[in-house]
Amino acid sequence: MIVPTYNEKDNIDELVQRVSKANPGAEIVIVDDNSPDGTSDRARELAKSYRMKVVTRSGKLGLSSAVMEGFATATGDILVVMDADLSHPPEKIPELVGRIESGEAEIVFGSRHVEGGSIENWPFYRKVVSKGAALLAGGLTKVKDPMSGFFALNRSVIEGVTLDPVGYKIGLEILVKGKYTKVAEVPIRFANRKAGKSKLGGSEMLRYIDHVSMLYEHRRFWLAKYLKFAFIGGIGAIINLTLLWTLIEGFSVYYLWAAVAAFVVADTNNFIWNRLWTFRSKGSLPVQYSQFLVVSIDGLMLNLILLKLLVEEIMPWIGLPEDKASFYIVLSQVVAIFLVSLFNFLANSAWTFRHDVRRGRKTD
Ligand code: GDD
Ligand code: MN
Repeated sequence: MIVPTYNEKDNIDELVQRVSKANPGAEIVIVDDNSPDGTSDRARELAKSYRMKVVTRSGKLGLSSAVMEGFATATGDILVVMDADLSHPPEKIPELVGRIESGEAEIVFGSRHVEGGSIENWPFYRKVVSKGAALLAGGLTKVKDPMSGFFALNRSVIEGVTLDPVGYKIGLEILVKGKYTKVAEVPIRFANRKAGKSKLGGSEMLRYIDHVSMLYEHRRFWLAKYLKFAFIGGIGAIINLTLLWTLIEGFSVYYLWAAVAAFVVADTNNFIWNRLWTFRSKGSLPVQYSQFLVVSIDGLMLNLILLKLLVEEIMPWIGLPEDKASFYIVLSQVVAIFLVSLFNFLANSAWTFRHDVRRGRKTD
């Protein structure tokens, strides 16, 4: 049993009692990040009467890495992870473990989102966030509640697997990278935390998006990278158009100069985010920036050539009227933008960021 803790002194007594009552003799590993409230001390006190191990780390190093530390410390073959705040019912542990012992699954999640599962009066915004998060993970796993912090697994699932301790969702990380054939879900009622407050802040949400995107890359490396690139490109397009409009309308700038300025600003934005996020590059900034600009300008020219080709050659060839009606031009431009984004992506992958696209490369 692995329980990560940060400032859970007021919960730990009841937790240890209920866990021991429901699972007599089970080993409890507390991984505490040197909580200022003295959780570690209280845990050590309890360890005199229960089968417990207490790991105190130097400081708040994060939930996922605490759980991994717990995996390394625990001695059993079946590992159970749960929160310390009594949101997860310890009485359900035997059921989770039972599913593994019976061979029904190698990982079992305590789930709020299967028949019989529930959540104790959550505010509306937390439900929305939770649903949104589940939606993002939808392409990674069939598990209904992969965000759950309550799960059991066979040690073999993670043996020899390199886990990245990003953010909160170590369970999702294991679902994507672990070695297993069957996974099950057991309904739980997720209770509000007994004492103290949640450690999950707003930055955790951004970290989650980053984590999920990395997991998608783990599954479909190039597709995920391209989607990131395209997403940033989409935002760049909005910046481009907004700036173009503002410069022309608000500052009466000559439209071609406005277009050049809008292009440079949007493209710089795209460069920054692609360097930081899509390719996570630490290469030379000025060199890469120049390369990125060169690719984009080539892309722009390619765009014009493709547009002309599509409107004047391809459209008539596939039988669409050759008139220059705006609709056909726009349609052609949609096709051209897609092709140019592919060109930009491939050119930047193969040139600007060529050192950063090796699969499975460890970053951060
Ligand atoms: N060691 C350590 N280090 N423990 C931590 C840290 C940390 O940096 N941050 C949080 N914890 C511990 C808490 O003390 C608690 O036992 C557990 O991790 C979960 O933290 P909460 O702050 O209670 O998280 P939550 O209730 O917002 O989120 C929980 O529910 C989510 C589902 O809604 C977690 O179980 C999430 O994993 C889960 O997705
Ligand atoms: Mn909690």
